[in-house]
Parts: sequence; structure tokens; C-alpha cells
Amino acid sequence: MERDVTGAAARRSKLPNEAKQKEAAKIRREKTIGVGWSILMLCVTYALIAAEYTVFLIKAGQAWQSVVGSLVLIAMGFGAFGVYAYIRREKNLATFSRMLLICVLLVIACAPLPVTMRVDVGFTVHVLAAMLVAVLTNRRLAMLSSVPVAAAAGVTAFVVSGVRGAPMGMILAAAVTAIAAVLALGISSTRSNTVIAAGLAGAAGALTYGAAMLACGEAFEAYWRTLLWILGGSVLCGILAVGFMPVFETLFDIPTDARLNELLNNNNPLLKRLMTEASGTYHHSLTVAALAEAAAEQVGANALLCRVAATYHDVGKLKDPLCFKENQRTENNVHNDLDPYESARRIIAHQQDSVELLEKHKFPGAVVRIAGEHHGDSVMVYFYDRAKKAAPEGTEVDVSKFRYPSGKPSTKESAIIMLADCCEAAVRSMKEPTMRDIAAKVREIINHKWDKRGSMLWDSPLSFAEINKIETSFLRTFAALYHERVEYPDLEEIDVR
Ligand SMILES: [Fe+2]
Ligand SMILES: [Fe+2]
Repeated sequence: MERDVTGAAARRSKLPNEAKQKEAAKIRREKTIGVGWSILMLCVTYALIAAEYTVFLIKAGQAWQSVVGSLVLIAMGFGAFGVYAYIRREKNLATFSRMLLICVLLVIACAPLPVTMRVDVGFTVHVLAAMLVAVLTNRRLAMLSSVPVAAAAGVTAFVVSGVRGAPMGMILAAAVTAIAAVLALGISSTRSNTVIAAGLAGAAGALTYGAAMLACGEAFEAYWRTLLWILGGSVLCGILAVGFMPVFETLFDIPTDARLNELLNNNNPLLKRLMTEASGTYHHSLTVAALAEAAAEQVGANALLCRVAATYHDVGKLKDPLCFKENQRTENNVHNDLDPYESARRIIAHQQDSVELLEKHKFPGAVVRIAGEHHGDSVMVYFYDRAKKAAPEGTEVDVSKFRYPSGKPSTKESAIIMLADCCEAAVRSMKEPTMRDIAAKVREIINHKWDKRGSMLWDSPLSFAEINKIETSFLRTFAALYHERVEYPDLEEIDVR
């Protein structure tokens, strides 16, 4: 009962309906415009592929019925993509740069087929595109991208191969190879496993093609080389994917798992500096990372992105480490000698310093954005209050001098890190807290951030239920971090023989 009063129900009652509806309408409108652009870009991509295949088919002496049929077949594959974009309002498809990436990869998958399949009907590079779409966007889209490619492979096989069952075999093999590669990447998408995933996918594709040939009654001599080409082509795609991945990650600024994992390496120069020059901030960041990662898993946010962004969110404190409580080893507090305006200015600056430092070290845009939003537009209440007390009677204190200048957290990951950051700082400042004290503090902070006067969570897509899950997850992580240690007895008092 208590949970309902102070938890989700209380937060829900604080949200003005009008603002909520306006916000939802704005998001719907933006998504619809994004999807419109996606479908237009898909049409342009299809037009390019269709032009290439028309020339290819006419040059190969195909009748006009065959040309029309082939183009319709490929169009159906692209149509499946467009319908999906319209129905699902997929985030990746509604983003211009992501859609451009997908269209470029679709061209890379389809355009070379009339050339490579002349070498052998099994030589395709479409697995490269499928793997890159899977790693750079998501696995659903990567699987769906195999549909137009499989249609294009079937059409090409019909023209270039003298084997009767080749078109059917290639449609199936192309789809199976791409899907198998995507599924194998789902198990592990590290750079070294990418080639293994491609090899497994090639084996699945070769098996599919072989089975299709058997079903069509073809002689083994007619297709055994194709099986090797399917396998070899797929492995080649795996190697190319490893090489091209960093290029696409950088070009389209995508925080892939491989890139994020690299940033967690202790040899990262920024992390090393944080450890040695601001050890208090380093430990604070690690705790925020643990809180945020666990909470992100509970609400379907990107847990690895949360971990990396939380690890680096306060890296700007390196500019002036002693300005922050966690790095002050002695009782000497630099703020004792500063006026509250100067204290606030120096502390507020760390957020922008983090952004600049991360940009300088070429961190993914998603990590930089989180660092720039991790305090939202909150007010430094402590220094604001000091300034008010120090101000002469009747003088107004300008609150904007004590407010972080950034916007409110705009993503789930950003919002989770903001909450984890506040909760960690508050709990750390408590003297020997019990779990009951921690639970009360965490609830107080989350409820405060969800205040109707300017909720810090309005711009984030977190639902009420998700905020409650985050709260529960924080408590679980705090319980693990602050568990009561079993006191070791004094060894000298124990008679050990
Ligand atoms: Fe901060
Ligand atoms: Fe922080």
C-alpha cells in the first residue's frame, strides 16, 4: 500500500494531462515525418537498383516479361521493408542518418551481384551488409534486409547460371546466410567472433543451397563449387565486416558494443587520468555505472551505453578536481574561501568540460550527449541558498547563475544516469545508512525529480512503471554495494594450531 501512495501512483497524479498529450503528439508527428523520409529514401534506393538490374537483364537478352517480373520481385522485397517501417515506426528507420546507412548497405548488398555472381553463382557479398546492419542498427532490420537481397540474388542466378535449380537455391541460400549471420552475431558481436559468425552462416547457406539442388535433382558435379563459393564468400564478408565496422561506426557515429567495450578498457587515457588525478570521482563514477547498468537492463535501455556514459559522465572534473567533495582528502574545502557565485560557476562548468573532453577524445555522440545532460537543468540548491542568505535585504538572487545550462535528459539512458548520479551522491553523504534509510533517500530523490514544477524526466521516454523498476533496481544494487561486512576476528586472539 505504502509503495502505491509514494511510488508510481503519486508520480502519475503529478503529471498535467495537457502537457503529456502535447508531448506524445509531438513525438508521434516527428516519427511520422521520419518514417515518410525513410520510405522516400527506400524508393530512391530501389530506383537505383532497378535501373542497374534493368540494364543487366536487357544486356543479358531477357524478354520484357522477364525484366518486369524480376523488377517486381525485387520491389516486393523493398516493399516488405517499407511496410515494416510504416507499421513499426522503428526508431532506426525514423532517423535520417540510420536510414541512409541502411540504404547504402542495401546498395552494397544488391549492386555487386550481377558482377560477382558471374564468377560463380554462389559468390555474393550480401552477408557483409547483413552483418553491418545488425551491428550498427539492430538484428530485426538486418534480417528484413535479406528479403530484397535474396530476391535480387534469385533474379541474377536465373540469368547467370545454367543450373535449373540455381534461382530457387540462391533465394533460399542468400536469405539463410544473412539470417544465420545475424543470429550468430546475436550470441557474440565482438570483432573476433564476427568472422566465426560469418563462417557458420556460410556453412548454413551452403547446406541450404546443396539441399535445394538435391531437391531439384541436380547432379553434384554441377554445383559443388558453388557450395565452396558460398562458404568462402561468407568468410570474406566476415573479414570485410571487421575492417569496415570502425569506418561506419565513425562515419555514422554509432556506439556499437565493440566500440563501447573498448572504452571500458583500463588503458583508456581518460580513465587512467580519472583514476590517478580524481580518484574520488573515479569511484563515484564506477558506482553510478553499476547502478545505471543494472537499472537499464530492467527497462530495456542500452545497458552497455549506460555503463560507459556513467563511467565518463564527470570526466570534466579533471579540470578542477579539488572543487568536488569526493576528491577532497582533508577538511580544507576550497568553497570556504569562495563566494557562492564563483563556487557554483566552477562546479557547473564540469558538465560542459566533460562534453569538450569527450569530444576531443572522439567519444561516440551518444556518450557525449549523456554527459551533457546528466544534471538536466537542475539548480545548485546549496550555493543558491548560501547566496540568498549572503545577499542584502531586498536583493534578488539570480537563480540562473546556479542552474545547469543544459536541457533535461532526453533518452532513457540519460535519465537513468541522472537518477543514479543523484542517488549515489546522496547515499554517499549519509553517515552509516541502513537499507531503510537508503530506500527512503532514493524514493525522495526520484520523487523530487518527478516534480510537476518542471519534472526532470518529462523529456525522457521513461514510463511510470519503468521509473518504479529503476527505483527497485537501485535499491538492489545499493544492497549489494553496502552489504554489511562480516567482521573478521583479531587473528592474535585466536589460537590456531
Ligand atoms: Fe556531474
Ligand atoms: Fe556525477
